[in-house]
Amino acid sequence: MKIGILTSGGDCAGMNPAIKMFIETCFNRKITPYLIYDGLEGLIDNKIKKAKRLDASGLIYRGGTILRSSRSARFYDHAYRQIAFENLQKKGIKKLIVLGGDGSFRALNQFYTDFGIDFIGIPSTIDNDIYGTEYCLGVDTALNVIRQAIDDIRDTVASFRRAFIIETMGRECGYLALVSALTCGAEVCIIPELEFDLPSIEKRLKKELKEGRTYAIAITAEGSTISEKLNAWFETTIGLESRITKLGHIQRGGNPTVFDRLMAAEFVLFALNRLGENSQNHHIIVYTKGAFAFMTIDETNNHRYTISPSLLKMGEELCR
Ligand code: F6P
Repeated sequence: MKIGILTSGGDCAGMNPAIKMFIETCFNRKITPYLIYDGLEGLIDNKIKKAKRLDASGLIYRGGTILRSSRSARFYDHAYRQIAFENLQKKGIKKLIVLGGDGSFRALNQFYTDFGIDFIGIPSTIDNDIYGTEYCLGVDTALNVIRQAIDDIRDTVASFRRAFIIETMGRECGYLALVSALTCGAEVCIIPELEFDLPSIEKRLKKELKEGRTYAIAITAEGSTISEKLNAWFETTIGLESRITKLGHIQRGGNPTVFDRLMAAEFVLFALNRLGENSQNHHIIVYTKGAFAFMTIDETNNHRYTISPSLLKMGEELCR
């Protein structure tokens, strides 16, 4: 059996340990592993290479993806998918593992519908915004990168009488911002999922400032597009000099945490077990309540991810 692996969309820590697990397990099970470089673009451009066992070495501790990634516009076009299919066909590859987000899974689902190429998707995005799974690969590492950055920024924040707005990634989802705010002791958190009440936050902060507070930290999610407005609000309404730090792509870097290395291994094993036994795979792996399961792309596409109610409940205190 021949199976290819590719990484697509935003990279994240955990992808390299997953590639390592894939190569080694394939060799142990007498499956021929193929590495597909540059994501879906590489499928079209035939950047497909038979893996050697040694390709797995030195990957476990590295962030990013040695396979590189892309966001492919060409793959939406049937003519390019046809080329991609022919590239796979020439090598006899009928099954794929793809690490990516929901956009990548939708593209692969179309590829499956067109040509019957089996695939299993491993949810991999620091945004943690894929319906059906409580965990996406890379999230724990990103949260720890953010935690380190906030702890560091706090040193300078606390040395002045200032407010600091720290913006996390999360195109449409406030998960990173919310968990970071809760675990890093922020005074304010603004995310798209929660309504906020500035007059009420003003009352709370002014009371605390009167009682001796000297600084405040606000965490915002990229998707809430409010950082600049909040910065001005701190200066004019609260009367604290204010600065913004947008953490940006630093959040996608860093050595994978132990949890992400372990999750990478578990996701890959679960995918290989299924690809080895069944055909007609067009599923993603979901991780809920401590267990792994499969979900069809249709099911995940037809629903929207929501942050758990208990986390949102805790977050409400930071929005008012
Ligand atoms: O991978 C998800 C993500 O990091 C989002 O949080 C962010 O909005 C986006 O990707 C950035 O994408 P790019 O790397 O293409 O700028």
